[in-house]
Parts: sequence; C-alpha cells; structure tokens
Amino acid sequence: METTSRCSPNDHQNDHLVIIGNGMASHRLIEGLVKQPTRPQRITVIGAEPTPAYNRILLSPLLAGEMQQDALTLRDTAWYAEQGVNLILGEKVETLDRASQTLTTNSGRSLDYDHLVIATGSRPALPDVPGIELEGVHGFRDLQDAEALEAIAQRGGDAVVIGGGLLGLEAAEGLRKRGNGINVSVLQRSERLMNRQLDTTAAHLLKDTLTQRGLNIITGAQLERLESDARGRVAKVHLADGLQLNASSVIVAAGITPNAELGRQAGLRTDRAIVVDEWLTTSDPAVSALGECCQFEGTTYGLVEPIWRQVEVLAATLCGTHTQGYADTPSATKLKISGVALYAFGPTEASAEHEVLNYHDLERGDYRRLLLRDGQIEGAVLYGDTSQGPWYFEQALAGTDLNAYRQALLFGGADVEVLREAASLHSPDSSELSSKQSSSKHSSHTTSEAA
Ligand SMILES: Cc1cc2nc3c(=O)[nH]c(=O)nc-3n(C[C@H](O)[C@H](O)[C@H](O)COP(=O)(O)OP(=O)(O)OC[C@H]3O[C@@H](n4cnc5c(N)ncnc54)[C@H](O)[C@@H]3O)c2cc1C
Ligand SMILES: NC(=O)c1ccc[n+]([C@@H]2O[C@H](COP(=O)([O-])OP(=O)(O)OC[C@H]3O[C@@H](n4cnc5c(N)ncnc54)[C@H](OP(=O)(O)O)[C@@H]3O)[C@@H](O)[C@H]2O)c1
Repeated sequence: METTSRCSPNDHQNDHLVIIGNGMASHRLIEGLVKQPTRPQRITVIGAEPTPAYNRILLSPLLAGEMQQDALTLRDTAWYAEQGVNLILGEKVETLDRASQTLTTNSGRSLDYDHLVIATGSRPALPDVPGIELEGVHGFRDLQDAEALEAIAQRGGDAVVIGGGLLGLEAAEGLRKRGNGINVSVLQRSERLMNRQLDTTAAHLLKDTLTQRGLNIITGAQLERLESDARGRVAKVHLADGLQLNASSVIVAAGITPNAELGRQAGLRTDRAIVVDEWLTTSDPAVSALGECCQFEGTTYGLVEPIWRQVEVLAATLCGTHTQGYADTPSATKLKISGVALYAFGPTEASAEHEVLNYHDLERGDYRRLLLRDGQIEGAVLYGDTSQGPWYFEQALAGTDLNAYRQALLFGGADVEVLREAASLHSPDSSELSSKQSSSKHSSHTTSEAA
C-alpha cells in the first residue's frame, strides 16, 4: 500500500479546482489551501445555500437563543474574493460529466474543472412512514431550518421531535428553551436516549434531567404515521402501540443520509456515500470527496473531528505536498445542551473481554463508566463532571496501558499522575501507599466490576 500522496509539487498549480458545496468541510479545505504557496491558483466553490459557509455546529445554541447568528459566520464573501477564490452561492450542482470534466448548476451555469472536490454533506434521513412529506415537518440542518424552528418555538403549540440522538435532543431543548408555551415531545425508537453513545445509566440520568426541564420523552416509540388536518398540515403523530400525539410541527432528527447522488449519477464508485481512498480520491483520480458525503473503508461521517483530519490530507495533496493518508480513529461526542455535561466515546455495551469501572455519585448526579480491554481504555461515558473526558480520550487514542493505575482511573489524570510519580520514585511500597490514599478518598462512591 502507498504511504504518501501521489501528487508532486506544482502538479496542480495551474489547474482549475472546483469544489461542490460550501459547508464546513469545504470552508476548512479552502482555509487550508490558501495558506499554501503551491495552492491551485484557480479555485471555484459552488454552494447551494445562499450564505457563505458558517459554523453549522452552532445552529443548536442559535436555536436555543444562546447565540446570535453573526457568531456563526466563518468568513464573509469579501474574504473569498481577497483569496482569489471564486464563490458562487445559491446554486446547486445538478449534473456532473466526468468525460468532459464539466458540471452544470440549476441556474444553467456550466463549468469546466481539472480537479473536482465533492463536499456536499448530508441531509436529514426521513423515516419511511406515511405523512412524512406533510407541511409542518422539518429537518434541522441549516440556517433556514433554524429560522423555521425558531418560528415554531415562538408560535407555541405541540412540537414532536422524531429521534432522541444528539441532534434530536439539542433541537428539542432549543425549542423548549426558546419557546412560548410550547409542548415538546421526543420520540426515541430505542429504549434509551442517545443509544449510540450512552449506556443505560447515563441515558436514564439524561432522561430524568430533560423530563424535569419539561420535555416529554417517549422511549421505545415505534413511529407508525403522521396525520394531516383538513389543510394538509401535520396535525398528529401515531405510534404503533396506539398512542397519538398532537403535533402542530414535527422535527425529524433520525440520522443523516449522505448527499452522494452527484457521484452516483456520474458513475463514481458509491455505497452509502461516495467511496474514497486514504487521500480522499474517488474511483476517478480527477475527483475527490470529503466530509459527510464520503465513505472510507465502510465508514461514513457525522462529526467534524475526522473531517478536519480529512481536510488536512486533501489540502496537502491538492498542493502537491507528500502526506500520510487519512486513517480513521475514534471520535468523542459531547451534547450541547446548557447545564447538561455529557462526554462519551467508544462502545456503549461492554463485551465479555471488557473490564468495567463504574463510579456513581447519586447525590451529585455524577456518573462515570470506563471500559477497559487489556488495561487500555476503549470507551467512556461521563455524565455530570466531564472534566476528565479529554484525558481519558487521549489515553484511549494513545493506547496507554493503565493497568497499574486502575484503582485511581475513575478519578482521572491527576490521581493517575500521583501514582505514576510514586512508582517512578522506585520506592517498593510507594505505589501501594498512593493507591490507598486515592481509593480511600473516593471508595464510598465507587463500584468496580468485571463484565
Ligand atoms: C444542528 C447541528 C449541530 C451539530 N453539532 C455538531 C457538534 O457539536 N459536533 C460535531 O462534530 N458535529 C456536529 N454536527 C455535524 C457537523 O455539522 C457536520 O459533520 C459537518 O457540517 C459536515 O460538514 P460537510 O461539509 O461534510 O457538510 P455540510 O456542512 O452539510 O456542507 C455541505 C454543503 O454542501 C451543500 N450542497 C449539497 N449539495 C450540493 C450541490 N449539489 N451543489 C452545491 N452545494 C451543495 C449544502 O447545501 C451544504 O451547504 C452538527 C450538525 C447539525 C445539523
Ligand atoms: N453534539 C454533537 O456532536 C452533535 C449535535 C447535533 C448533531 N450531530 C451530528 O449530526 C448528525 C445527525 O444527528 P442525529 O441525532 O439525527 O443522528 P444519530 O446520531 O444517527 O441519532 C438518531 C437517533 O434517532 C433514532 N431514530 C432513528 N429513526 C427513528 C424513528 N423512526 N423513530 C424514533 N427514533 C428514531 C436513532 O435510533 P436507532 O439507533 O434505533 O436508529 C438514533 O437514536 C449525527 O451525525 C450527529 O453526530 C452531532
């Protein structure tokens, strides 16, 4: 397998680089390219949204009223012009002809490219139930959606959010917080919230907190159909167990579908998304793809951290710099709801090979669970005090063998360091002494069990 990029410096400097999509991946790629002396001189970016790329992550605090729209701006249109980047906004690329290396937009514009980057992101996945196309059913993906949700919050009534993952919960809490006497229900198919990130205990803690704030959370909900009123607007949500919920609005947050259609129509290799290699090259060497529209070794993406690493590889490649290719590593997630601290990575369920370390302070609502395999952290769920989350994540990525410090592990880096230092003094009983101090400090709250 190759370990360096295939471009050599200046290969592409006079080429016309065209980027489809002006979202988070596209923007970061442009930032990376324009810093390089060997950047492609002609860059055109075509984005379907009417505004230049913004920080999509901040749509949740924007909806919750915790932030102004200005704060989402990454760069204004003038910046693109100053960088010599031709920015075309409000146009959607509709066709791609790889033989002639041209594309056309919905306004009839035609463009030639030497190298193309597809960075079209993804869209809300729509559950396959009758009524899902009704008026009053929304996704939560872009600024327009955020505006629509804000209007829903202001109007009040009954909002039903389908999906109790990161997006559904941030949308539901944003609506409630921003709302004007709005009743917000969350329908989660699984028996627990954030079933892809949390274990049962953390999911219950989260459900209790959000219920106390006023959200109506229904887990184990099997969506059957949406019913309209006489004007064709959504009015009710029906579940398979016969439960009916009034719904003046429905917000769908049930996962994402990669926008891979352009690649598919153009005959690029696709699966769930556009298939790329470790340099983000598709099955056509003149076309790259990155972000949520691409798939690498069977994985598709929904968080920015791996996308930032893809961007680094692609920016270097497009500037002719030799680079290690992209490789997947685990990602950690945080829920962006004010007053709820939650940090998780790795598997949600312990397998037979995992050792499970638990800490639960019921009074303070503080919960930590670590999954260890052969002394290395493989997964963590932290609820309440999440300050040690990044340290656990670092240890997991580094594959540090923490077996010698396992009795202090639940209390994080500082306690482990005490043990490490004690051990490094080479005193025969120093490690034992430190571990006793550490565990006596916390033992009343700690349970440790093997899976
Ligand atoms: C509300 C919300 C909160 C989030 N919070 C977090 C978070 O806290 N942490 C985290 O890691 N991730 C978060 N995410 C996910 C993160 O925003 C995405 O992973 C990231 O935006 C993906 O970048 P992208 O460029 O691949 O796609 P996008 O940012 O979606 O950009 C794709 C762009 O391409 C445009 N486009 C699509 N098709 C065409 C076409 N044919 N022609 C022209 N343009 C086209 C789209 O309109 C869009 O502007 C959140 C997402 C949402 C919606
Ligand atoms: N803070 C953050 O990091 C953050 C915030 C917002 C968004 N995002 C990202 O944005 C993307 C979209 O978020 P998301 O929460 O929509 O996706 P997600 O993480 O895939 O979660 C979707 C949830 O909805 C459930 N669901 C699916 N179909 C359903 C149905 N018919 N009825 C009820 N529940 C259903 C899923 O359950 P099943 O497992 O049973 O399918 C899952 O729990 C994700 O990639 C996410 O990582 C991240």
